[in-house]
Amino acid sequence: MTSPTFTGYPSEVRDRLDGDARQILSRYPETRSALMPLLHLVQSEDGYVSPAGIAFCADTLGLSRANVSAVATFYSQYKRRPNGKYTVGICTNTLCAVMGGDAIFERLSERLGIHHDETTEGGEITLEQIECNAACDYAPVMMINWEFFDNQTPESALAVVDAILEGQDITPTRGPDKVPSFQEMERVLAGFEDGLADQGNAGGAPTMAGLTLSRENGWTAPAVDPNTISTEDAAGQPEPEAAEQAGIDPVGEEGSSAERQETTEADSDPETVAAPAEAEDTDAEKPTTEAGAAAAADEEDES
Ligand code: FES
Repeated sequence: MTSPTFTGYPSEVRDRLDGDARQILSRYPETRSALMPLLHLVQSEDGYVSPAGIAFCADTLGLSRANVSAVATFYSQYKRRPNGKYTVGICTNTLCAVMGGDAIFERLSERLGIHHDETTEGGEITLEQIECNAACDYAPVMMINWEFFDNQTPESALAVVDAILEGQDITPTRGPDKVPSFQEMERVLAGFEDGLADQGNAGGAPTMAGLTLSRENGWTAPAVDPNTISTEDAAGQPEPEAAEQAGIDPVGEEGSSAERQETTEADSDPETVAAPAEAEDTDAEKPTTEAGAAAAADEEDES
């Protein structure tokens, strides 16, 4: 048996990755916690977790290559073979499956000639069966590079896949105007913003139904009075969780996500979240392929 060869990166690539890694490491009090974003960084460079990438993560964090491989092989978002430009994931979890997810997966698998976790010969598409993506209100759902394509049918999903095979850009039903490539998305997952997080609607009418109902009825959450919350358990011992909920003790360690800075208006003002009616209209009009966009533009010109 031959040993794997770790060729490493050319020096200019290594220098660039080292600069990115320094930024990532600065966000974590424990350096080994940076392993997962570093693996995404490697995927943004190589399109998968390459041997060179494993060596890079291990060297950077002072871990063994076995440690790094153990993490990389545990999570399905880390790819062990070169991934396609687009990961097309069909949710076949219970709700999406009964709403048509299984049928969509079968049609796409037939069209592309590949099965779960396989990639088309030209490297355009990796097809996956995926678990619930917390978008059950839009079942059945297709995710492409983690952007949502809601309320799919076998025909609509095939149209998107055909557009990819023809080299067209594709547009999700929610989110940014264009689905980024797998490697571009991996850089975002590594922690480098692409500036598109606030582009498009994140939620439409089904997601906002609760908010709509509360606004119509004037419902608000009751204010929390720290003085009325018991911070002791039945034995009279302090209850750290109750104290945290009452805002008495700081939540999270120094450097944790509890210290995240506000980045969007919606962080401080829920009223800036798009009203459901607006979201629904926008979603309904959003074409998912270039051909769809052209047809929509023609319709607009004629009207
Ligand atoms: S079951 Fe498919 S998104 Fe939840």
